[in-house]
Amino acid sequence: MINNKDNFYITTPIYYVNGQPHIGHAYTTILADVLSRYQRSLNKPTFFLTGTDEHGQKVQKAAEKENMTPQEQCDKTFVRFKKLWEKLEVTNDYFIRTTDDNHKKVVQEALQELFDKDLIYKDEYEGFYCVPCERFFNEQDLENGILCPECQRETQKIIEGNYFFRMSQYQDWLINYIEENPEFIQPTFRANETLGFLKKQKLSDLCISRPKERLSWGIELPFDAEYVCYVWFDALINYITGIGYKQNDEEFAKWWPASYHLIGKDILTTHTVYWPTMLKAMGLPMPKTIFAHGWWLTGRDKMSKSLGNVVNPMEMCDKYGVDAFRYFLLSEMTLGQDASFTEEAFIQRFNSDLANDLGNLLSRVTKMILRNFDGTIPAPATELAEEEIEFLKAVNKAVEFMPEAIDSMKLDRGIERALAAVRAGNRYLEQTAPWTLAKKGETDKLKTVMYYSANALWKISTLLHSVMPQKMAEMLIALGFNAEEANTVSFENIAGKNDVLSGKKINDPGALFQRIIIEDKNVKNNNQQQKKKQKQQAKQDKKQKNAEISVENGLISIDDFFKTELKVAKVLEAEKVPEADKLLKLQIDVGGEQRQLVAGIAAYYSPEEMIGKTIVIVANLKPAKIRGVKSQGMLLAAKDTDGLKIITVDGLISSGASVG
Ligand code: ME8
Ligand code: MG
Repeated sequence: MINNKDNFYITTPIYYVNGQPHIGHAYTTILADVLSRYQRSLNKPTFFLTGTDEHGQKVQKAAEKENMTPQEQCDKTFVRFKKLWEKLEVTNDYFIRTTDDNHKKVVQEALQELFDKDLIYKDEYEGFYCVPCERFFNEQDLENGILCPECQRETQKIIEGNYFFRMSQYQDWLINYIEENPEFIQPTFRANETLGFLKKQKLSDLCISRPKERLSWGIELPFDAEYVCYVWFDALINYITGIGYKQNDEEFAKWWPASYHLIGKDILTTHTVYWPTMLKAMGLPMPKTIFAHGWWLTGRDKMSKSLGNVVNPMEMCDKYGVDAFRYFLLSEMTLGQDASFTEEAFIQRFNSDLANDLGNLLSRVTKMILRNFDGTIPAPATELAEEEIEFLKAVNKAVEFMPEAIDSMKLDRGIERALAAVRAGNRYLEQTAPWTLAKKGETDKLKTVMYYSANALWKISTLLHSVMPQKMAEMLIALGFNAEEANTVSFENIAGKNDVLSGKKINDPGALFQRIIIEDKNVKNNNQQQKKKQKQQAKQDKKQKNAEISVENGLISIDDFFKTELKVAKVLEAEKVPEADKLLKLQIDVGGEQRQLVAGIAAYYSPEEMIGKTIVIVANLKPAKIRGVKSQGMLLAAKDTDGLKIITVDGLISSGASVG
C-alpha cells in the first residue's frame, strides 16, 4: 500500500446537470483548481476531481418536458459544465458523471455489500419530500408544517416501502470523531453546526431507495429491481469511484483519503453526516477535511434564478478575461464567509490591483530595461540600501506567507500579501526614481533598481500563477523565461536566493491588464443629451396616442407617469443625520452632478453599506428641507413588514441614466 500522506486529492461537489452553471459552481471549481495548481508547484502528486450529478427527479422531469430520454437530457447538458471548466483553465484530472458505467457498477457493489452486512434493511416509510433539494424530511423539521427547511418550498407527503441505511447507529461515533478531529470539518463554526445538529436529536436511518414507479432515473438496487438508489447516496460515492475504488486498488490507495472535499455551505449535512457514516459502514477512512465555503451573493441578496440575479461566468469572462475573473473570485471571498459579487466591485478591483498596481509595475520595469539596458536584465551593482531592504522585506513576506495561506485556507490573505509586495515595488520605483537615475547617468544604482524590481516581478508572478495562469505565464515570458518555464512554476525556486534573472532578455509585454474605462465623461454627457431628446420625442408620441386615455378608475396615463423623472444615481458619501435616528444624509452623483439627499433608511442600512451603491431617485422633486437638512430628490425603496430594501439596478449602468 502506498502511503498517501504526501499526496493531495481534492474534490468539488458534482453539480446537478440540469442547471446552468453559475458563479457559485465556477467559484468552487476555480478554488479547487487554484489549490491543485499550488500543490503541483510545491511538487506534490495531485489529483483533482470534479463532475456532474445526473440522476434524480429533476433530470427525469426535464427530460419528459423536452421529450427526451433522461440519458439524452444528461448528455446534452453535462457539456455546459465541461466546456465552462475548459474555458476557466480548470485542470481537473478527471471528470466523473454519475451515469458512467463504472460508477454505477461500483455503487451497486457498495449497496450489495452493505445489504449483505445487514446495514441496509426494508421498512415502511413516511416522509416529506422536497424535489428541488432531492431530500426527505421528517414532519417536525418542516417549516409551517409543510415547507422544506432548506429552501422553503412546499414538500410532498409520501408513504411507501423503502430501503434504509442504518445511519442512526453511528451517531455517537460521529460526534466523537468530529470532536476529536478538529480538522475534519472546516471552518470550525461549521463543525459546531454539525455537532449541534447531531446532539439536538436522535439521528434517523437514511432512506436510500426510491420506488421505480415514482422515480425511474437512478441506479437500480442490486437486491431489488423495483427500486433505484437515492441520488445523494449515489452522488457521494463519486468521490471514491472517481479514483478507482473497487476498480484499481493501487490508484485508490494512492489518493484516498481525500485531502479536501470542497463544498458550499448548502450541502453541509449530506457531507458531514451522510458521507462519513457511509464511509464508516464501508470500512473506509475518513477524508481529512470537508471544507464548506460561503455564498456568493448579488449585492446583499442570495443569487437565484427566480430573482433573476444570477451571474453568468461565461459572460464575465468574455467581457473581462478569464484570469481577471479568477483573480476577483479568489481575492474577494474570505474562505468560509459569504461574499458579494457586483460588476462595480469587479471593475474597481481590476483597475486598482491588476491594471494600476501589477500591470503598471511590469510595464515600468520592462520599459526601463528595454530603454536603458537593451532589454537585458542587469545584475545589481550597488550595495543594498535602506529602500532595497524595505522592498525586499515586503517581497519575502509574501513568498513566506503564501504556503501558509494555502495550508490554512486563507487564499485571499495570501493574494493580499502578494499585492502588498507589488505596491511596495511601485513605491520603490517612486523612491529611487530610475528615470532620473538614467538621466543623470547613475547606471550602477539603476542596475540595482532594475534587478530587484524584475526579481520581485518574477517572485510575484510565481505566487499568483495558480490564480492567473495565463497572465502570469505572459509575465514570466516578458521577464525572459521560455514557454515551458513560464507554465511550470515552483515555489522552491523563488524561496532560494539564486540569481536566475540577470542576463535574461525582456520581451515587451504591452499592457498586461488594460484598464476598464466605464465611460468617458464627454461620451456620457453626449449620450445623456441624446437620451433626453429621444425621451422627449417618445413623450410627444405617446401623448398623442394616449390623449383619449385619461385618468379612469385610479389609472394614470403614461404622460402622468413620465412627469416623474426617475434616474440612476451613485452614492458617494453617507452619514447619519444628528438627532434623527431614522435618517441618512447621502451625497450622490447623478450623471456628473452632485446632490444631497436625505432618506429614512438608517434603521435598515448603515452609512458604510450605502457608500458605492447604485440607487434610483426621483430627480425632479422640489427640493425640501427634512429636519433642517436640504434634500434634492427622493430615493426609491421597497418596504414590507420585515424590512426595507432600496431599489437598485441589475448590472452596471452609468449614473444619471434615466429609468422608465
Ligand atoms: O448540490 N455561492 O449540486 P448543485 C457559492 N449535486 N457556491 C455556490 C453557490 C453560491 N451562490 N451556488 C452553488 C448539488 N454553489 C449536488 C452535490 S456532491 C456529492 C452533490 C456551489 O449543482 C457550491 O459548491 O446544487 C455548492 O455546494 C454547489 O455549487 C451545489 O451545486
Ligand atoms: Mg443546489
